[in-house]
Amino acid sequence: MDRIKIIGGSKLIGSIPISGAKNAALPLMIASLLTEGTLTLKNIPHLADITLLSRILGELGANITIDGRDVPSINNETSGVTMHISVPKISNFFAKYDLVSRMRAGFWVIGPLLARMGRAKVSLPGGCAIGTRPVDLHLKALQKLGADIKLEDGYVIATAPNGLKGTKIKFSKVSVGATHNILMAATLAKGQTIIENAAKEPEVVDLVKCLRAMGSKIEGEGTSIINIEGVSQLNSAEHEVLPDRIEAGTYAMAVAMTGGSLTLTNVNSDNLQYPLHVMKAMGVQCLDQENSLHITQNDNKLKPIDIVTNPYPGFPTDLQAQIMAMMTQADGLSRIRETIFENRFMHVQELARLGANITLDGDMAIIRGVTKLKGAQVMATDLRASVSLVIAALAAKGETIVNRVYHLDRGFEDIEKKLSSCGAVIERLTD
Ligand code: EPZ
Repeated sequence: MDRIKIIGGSKLIGSIPISGAKNAALPLMIASLLTEGTLTLKNIPHLADITLLSRILGELGANITIDGRDVPSINNETSGVTMHISVPKISNFFAKYDLVSRMRAGFWVIGPLLARMGRAKVSLPGGCAIGTRPVDLHLKALQKLGADIKLEDGYVIATAPNGLKGTKIKFSKVSVGATHNILMAATLAKGQTIIENAAKEPEVVDLVKCLRAMGSKIEGEGTSIINIEGVSQLNSAEHEVLPDRIEAGTYAMAVAMTGGSLTLTNVNSDNLQYPLHVMKAMGVQCLDQENSLHITQNDNKLKPIDIVTNPYPGFPTDLQAQIMAMMTQADGLSRIRETIFENRFMHVQELARLGANITLDGDMAIIRGVTKLKGAQVMATDLRASVSLVIAALAAKGETIVNRVYHLDRGFEDIEKKLSSCGAVIERLTD
């Protein structure tokens, strides 16, 4: 199994192009199930989760071709591929356990399958290291749209022989995935659907832009109320995946830890306003320009801060592990309250191996800085936790080995190439 070796202590100086967003690309690929036409998606990142979803879609009848590879991602151009997905006929309504259990987004095929074909059998997603992550909001909303839902042997069997019917859905909690799923289902439902308490994440807005290009009638994306007027069919379209705000935030936090200066290109910094505000308050220079972001950290000490994770536009849970690593280098006591997932502190014990001083109290982590980090063997159980170990290792003295690199490969394209092009001493060890 691959590992990553890092010798810490080098400043990061240079430029890193940001890839297309994994969490936008996944629902966009799933939207291809809604049409007999071809969905062309540009700027798709090269990631393990994309490959896995391609397999899930392939089993449902999708033909997927790829072109546009392969601009090396360390020059300043978009590295992503262009993917053409066509599903002229859904050949199978069955998304299997062995694939869906490995990636939660695989479950989201249920809405489009039901909308287009009136039936679906999809494995419940597996438990995940960051919390129980139920799908009750998805299922209740599909029932409200008229689907009959049964749970059998770990599978959700959903049928709507007469099609889905528009209705009003009020989510009791903000859910990105349930918003994606129900949005897609409602595009082909009869009549109007109103989603209240919808997720406002940029990835939801990106999905709506694509669905609109496919011919759907949607208003209100980016707000908590989304209106969808069902249409009888969707068509071929082309869409470019938005830049990955979590990847950009991660590299920004990396340079804040190591010192130096990074220019992040292909960035939409509007989508990173809260994390940038936090970083500025901690003393980091962040300058956003059109499509790029310049982050500079001189020798001044970082200031401690308290943050709470929240749905967009709040501080993203997907940057929580990374800012925690950064807080170990702040001069004083910082606190993080994690409100999205009940068990997303698995990185704490691994950061402690590198010397971090962090205590947990329920949903709160208390980070005491400045600690001198020192290299060690570490591993993590989810991808954001893994990357927090990478950025901590870049700032640590000596050698760190990050095990279970496949987590990183799920969400960070060419991470070692991107970092080493800016002076990091980092290499992949393959056994
Ligand atoms: C998406 O997951 C992202 N995944 C996650 O990114 C991200 O952490 C999360 O949104 C929150 O921003 C993708 O986009 C592929 P949710 P999702 O439904 O949609 C609860 C990463 O590292 N909930 O918004 O699965 C749930 O348990 C990943 O890239 C229910 O209770 O998250 C959680 O507490 C990890 N019932 C909260 O809502 C439901 O039916 C928000 O989850 C659904 C969710």
